[in-house]
Amino acid sequence: MGRLRRKPGMVEALSLFPELVVITDEKFYGNGNWKARFPVSGPLFLELGTGKGRFLQEMARLHPDCCFVGLEKEPGVLIQAVRKTRELELTNLKFILGDVQWLDRMFAPAEVDGIFIHFCDPWPKSRHEKRRLTHPDYLRRYRHILTSAGSIRLKTDNRELFEYSLASFTASGMELVRVSRDVHAEDANLSAVMTEYELKFHAAGLPICYCEARFDNVGEVAADA
Ligand SMILES: C[S@@+](CC[C@H](N)C(=O)[O-])C[C@H]1O[C@@H](n2cnc3c(N)ncnc32)[C@H](O)[C@@H]1O
Repeated sequence: MGRLRRKPGMVEALSLFPELVVITDEKFYGNGNWKARFPVSGPLFLELGTGKGRFLQEMARLHPDCCFVGLEKEPGVLIQAVRKTRELELTNLKFILGDVQWLDRMFAPAEVDGIFIHFCDPWPKSRHEKRRLTHPDYLRRYRHILTSAGSIRLKTDNRELFEYSLASFTASGMELVRVSRDVHAEDANLSAVMTEYELKFHAAGLPICYCEARFDNVGEVAADA
């Protein structure tokens, strides 16, 4: 893994908001206990590559009893999410500056009730397949931190990445709970809260693909018994 190169000014800016953001690096060991950071005790949801945080800000406002965490690796992007969240006075939304690769050192096993992956980089070249956030290696990491009923919800405008992800979910023993290749046409509830990228792509007339997938832990328990 290459060393991190970050603009120091941006990380310093983030460090001014210790109540809102946890700053991690490749040596970080946090061991979870995320619920203790929130004033509410509802389920914990995590968005990977949260960007400027638009989706989670809206979700946190609509679901004040739930806890939300946005993970983002770019400090210059994350500072915008953090400042806006402060302005909105949302207390059930926190952020992590860090890389999805370090997830199992940020969260305890079975600590997360749901994971959102929205418009992640498609990495179209096959030699970059392992970098896709829906590659089976990443799914193993997600499984480790998800509760047994927890699910992964993916949204993307990229059809190739979507079909790849469905195959990866299935090959990893996941059940596809809901699949739509045009969620805005098919389900008003699932498309009500939009991410920043989704707003742009939807306005440009692109169909948005959606999938919710869950690990088939029931089968595994039976097999282990
Ligand atoms: C295309 S943007 C989408 C932002 C937002 N989810 C949306 O839908 O508007 C992808 C974001 O994921 C972040 N990202 C990509 N790979 C990441 C990784 N391995 N760990 C953390 N963040 C990552 C990027 O920095 C970028 O902000």
